[in-house]
Amino acid sequence: MARRTPGLLALLLLAAGSAVAAQELRLAQVPVSGRAGLDSLARLGFEVADLRTVAGQLTAVIVVSTQTERLLAARGYPVAAVEAAPAAPAADTFKVFRSFDKPGTGIRATLAAWAAADTLIHVDSVGASIEGRPILAVKIGDPGDSPARPNVLFMGTHHAREWVSTEMAMRLIRWLADSLPRPLLASRDIWVIPVENPDGYQYTFTASRLWRKNRRPNGDGTFGVDPNRNYPAFWGVDNDGSSPVPGTEIYRGPAPGSEPETQAVMAFHAAHPPVLAISYHSYTGLVLYPYGFRYGELAPDQTVFQALAGTDLRPAVRDSLPASTLSAYHPGDGWTLYTTNGEYTDWAYRAFGTIAFTTELTSGCCTPDSGLYYGFVFPDDSALVDRVFRDNLPLALAVIAAAGDPATAQGPSGLRPAGARIESVWPEVRISLAAAAPAPFSLSVRTASGQMVTRNARADSLWRGRLRNSWRSDLSTDAARALRVDGAGLAAELVTIAGAEDGEPAWTGTGVGGWTRTSDALVGRYAWYEAGNDTLTSPVVDLRGRTRVWLQLWTKYAGSGFALQQRGQVQFSPDSGRTWSDVAALAGSSPAWYPVRVDLPAAAGAAGARVRFVDHGLPWWLDAVGVATDSTAAFQLIAAAGGADVSENPVKGDQVVISWAAGAAPARVGIYTFTGERLIATTVAPPNNEYVWDLTAGGRRMPNGAYLVVVQVDGRVFRRRLFLTRTGA
Ligand code: ARG
Ligand code: ZN
Repeated sequence: MARRTPGLLALLLLAAGSAVAAQELRLAQVPVSGRAGLDSLARLGFEVADLRTVAGQLTAVIVVSTQTERLLAARGYPVAAVEAAPAAPAADTFKVFRSFDKPGTGIRATLAAWAAADTLIHVDSVGASIEGRPILAVKIGDPGDSPARPNVLFMGTHHAREWVSTEMAMRLIRWLADSLPRPLLASRDIWVIPVENPDGYQYTFTASRLWRKNRRPNGDGTFGVDPNRNYPAFWGVDNDGSSPVPGTEIYRGPAPGSEPETQAVMAFHAAHPPVLAISYHSYTGLVLYPYGFRYGELAPDQTVFQALAGTDLRPAVRDSLPASTLSAYHPGDGWTLYTTNGEYTDWAYRAFGTIAFTTELTSGCCTPDSGLYYGFVFPDDSALVDRVFRDNLPLALAVIAAAGDPATAQGPSGLRPAGARIESVWPEVRISLAAAAPAPFSLSVRTASGQMVTRNARADSLWRGRLRNSWRSDLSTDAARALRVDGAGLAAELVTIAGAEDGEPAWTGTGVGGWTRTSDALVGRYAWYEAGNDTLTSPVVDLRGRTRVWLQLWTKYAGSGFALQQRGQVQFSPDSGRTWSDVAALAGSSPAWYPVRVDLPAAAGAAGARVRFVDHGLPWWLDAVGVATDSTAAFQLIAAAGGADVSENPVKGDQVVISWAAGAAPARVGIYTFTGERLIATTVAPPNNEYVWDLTAGGRRMPNGAYLVVVQVDGRVFRRRLFLTRTGA
């Protein structure tokens, strides 16, 4: 069954070349050229574990076997060994690390002993691995699962070689049982699955230290399915995020949820759907959250994920290991590292609304040639393992606390989720609303030329989340300057908007060869682009009388989750550029444009507001950068929300646009003089929802004065008094 002695079976395996190869896994470095190079490694089925610059050349760290190395060589990749990588399979004789099966002190034996000795620790098997090992789930606190208590789940070791993640989970079990404040323990159902992939984990002790996958015999001589590519969400949507090739590191398996280990986790979720979860991996020093399957895709609950995981300015997890490359874990959407499909957090979020995080424990240490290098092979040192645990405890506790009401979550860095709000006005409207709120009836948009346009917003299934839905509408053909979300009580106005186009007020770069215009634009003809160390500064914006100011920007960037010192810094100045403070930071890899909203509380009322973009080596694009304010002043609101509106009042131009939220039946529009004489009577069939009153029609100029507009739609009547104050009329 689980443990075998070498013998005939081993000889048979030796005869099958790839089984031998599997035992000779080692770290290797291959030169790559940027994103494209990384994507092609992914398409060959490699998980890029790290990225470093060796002798001026960008180099990916991967795990190879003799077989996969041959594959790389055949494609022209010069593969070099990482000297300090441990090749020898480990005996089960470490001080800290222990296998699953080890008698007395292994994971299974330790959990059994803890459960026997401690009334707060309960161990249950929630399934069995391919080789028949139990998938052990530990419950801390009351043995029973109560529907009144929200579930929280922590998992370790999907990937066999990531031993420190199992130790993280084991320490967490101990700490929760010993030290979690009792009222909190009594009000949560807390579960820990310390080894999701026990066969693979065991194999790293007995055969191959750098084994990643489970131990499925694939039928072609190769072994293993990547447990973090096998979940039934976005499974196999492309061959970058997982591989269809059995022998590769990121093989997704023959079908979604094909593996018994995956099925155990799935069944656990069905029985105890977690409100929040953390899946521990190693290494890189990241706290990632959905979505991870597609670049630029933002989860509707992003504000909740960010409150807990923090931002690059206010990260939630510090890295206090003496020699780690970073001082804090980078928080971000999964794709800021690379895309994955069939991955756990995307699945848990999609299937159960679980606010699920992937923590990549620690940034790893040092350089390959320093001799101190470790990545997957974390030192067998209890003080260092304990530091990893201490660094990660605050986020684990914040997650447990947040399970009571994720809407009021508070992250270790003090962040809380934002309320309902407009995330972007243009070129795409994005609105974040409470999931329980009714659909926005319609969007009223005022364009640069003062026209009023009404649109409907859409929230497809990807953008329906646990606490928030994201509503979107494309306005890229129009120059929206103000937006009102009818029925949701939200409105915003762009005070400025710029994107490197002709005729815009000048933004200034400070360096030669720094920020330039590029035709690789989100909208219009140009965007800004920079890839070195230059600063792009906005003109001064007068915000006197403005409150609730925020910055909208659309961005993409070609950095790397492994090279977080390359970053983009966003700063704000209230005093025309004399003093600056950080308001946002961006890092990682986003080949797709996405919007960022940055609240600027210090901008309220500032006469000399400026923003600037300080680049630190990040290839960085910006477009549709605007200062916005949450304000309804841009609209003359009709008392009845969701009613009708006019483009201008008092009217100074020759046309006035009357618009309303489109109904099911045709709308009747009437325009009357103040004395009741009917000037216009017409009907407008949906989806058209506006009527343009031309004040010069028929060669006749409407005299100035008061008029009455009446719109009847779906049994509701809206009345609006309109004043014509045109010069010369
Ligand atoms: N190292 C993890 C894995 O390969 C990362 C998964 C997190 N999600 C992502 N899109 N990068 O499974
Ligand atoms: Zn992993």
